Amino acid sequence: MNAPEAVRGPRAVAQPVAAPLTRAAIFLVATVNPGSGNRAILRSFCADLAALVRAVEFRDLEGGLSCVLGFGADAWGRIFGPPLPAELRAFREIRAAGRHAVSTPGDLLFHIRAKRMDLCFELATQIMARLGDAVSPEDEVQGFRYFDDRDLLGFVDGTENPRGEAVIEAVMVGEEDAAFAGGSYVIVQKYLHHLDGWNALSTEVQERIIGRTKLSDIELDDSIKPTSAHNALTTIVEDGKEIKILRDNMPFGRAGHGEFGTYFIGYSRSPRTIEQMLENMFVGRPPGNYDRLLDFSRAVTGNMFFAPSATFLEAAGDDQPVPAPPAVDAAATDGSPSASRRGDGSLGIGSLKGESPHE
Ligand code: HEM
Repeated sequence: MNAPEAVRGPRAVAQPVAAPLTRAAIFLVATVNPGSGNRAILRSFCADLAALVRAVEFRDLEGGLSCVLGFGADAWGRIFGPPLPAELRAFREIRAAGRHAVSTPGDLLFHIRAKRMDLCFELATQIMARLGDAVSPEDEVQGFRYFDDRDLLGFVDGTENPRGEAVIEAVMVGEEDAAFAGGSYVIVQKYLHHLDGWNALSTEVQERIIGRTKLSDIELDDSIKPTSAHNALTTIVEDGKEIKILRDNMPFGRAGHGEFGTYFIGYSRSPRTIEQMLENMFVGRPPGNYDRLLDFSRAVTGNMFFAPSATFLEAAGDDQPVPAPPAVDAAATDGSPSASRRGDGSLGIGSLKGESPHE
């Protein structure tokens, strides 16, 4: 398949990137094994993924099951060939003083979300059974919603996500890379927290590190918010306009092993936005004025992926160039693959996070 011909312009239906917040998620990162047959296996898998999700989803239609599939730069070349999405590249490692944003292996990302972990688990199981020896797992994290959307540091996480129409602007590639319109860049990092150290801080100190109050989740006033606050360093303004990303971080952990973590996942229209945030956090803005969250949080994985449109995935099974999708309105993909059959004329990104944040 010739990628530019696979998906044309805004009519491509997006994957359920903006699915509503769910109580459970699995983040599964895998590498594609060497072997000439694996390219064909992966391509036919792409075309069948929607049906696989539908099959598991049908066992509880209220369960809000969704899956986003992303590809790393290296894997993209091997599976689909050139051209690559314009800004798809390997995750850029950052080292600054003792801080390290590591880059770790990963060709495929499955971001599986549902109200129930069993649905996520069943879909992950079916995906891995289908892919068999073609892939090797690199990392698998089961995330859970913690009280009122808090991370394990005790702060509400996700408040400043874009909502409504702003999500599309924040996450969806458009005319700037028309062949890949409807896709999104995804960056993931698995963080482990030093919770004892964090909990030894006073609430006021913690609030100045995050930049919001802990209990009520209100942004600190600029007069007291340090320039090193997490929400200050992750605010990116270009030409007077704030550039947003969409996050769906999830806590995870193993209490018996003293493991407490946050799985960071950020979707964006351009990966430069998230790269700049990471630079600000790890190196500092200005350099040295870094994110103190990193004194208590260590990144143990780091990957960049591109999640193409659902239209692109469907077409991937044909190894020949395929025509542009028919000129119908993009259907919604609000987290349920069957929603893409609705054809309700809404934008291809569907029900937007923030509109119905809770199931
Ligand atoms: C240890 C991992 C992390 C934790 C525990 C964490 C936690 C938080 C919390 C509690 C907030 C404030 C509430 C909100 O607006 O969501 C926040 C905001 C934010 N975080 Fe993080 N975060 C982490 C990593 C990251 C990373 C790696 C990035 C990007 C590279 C990032 C980007 C943002 C952005 C863009 C905001 C919103 C800023 C604003 O507009 O106010 N976070 N994060």
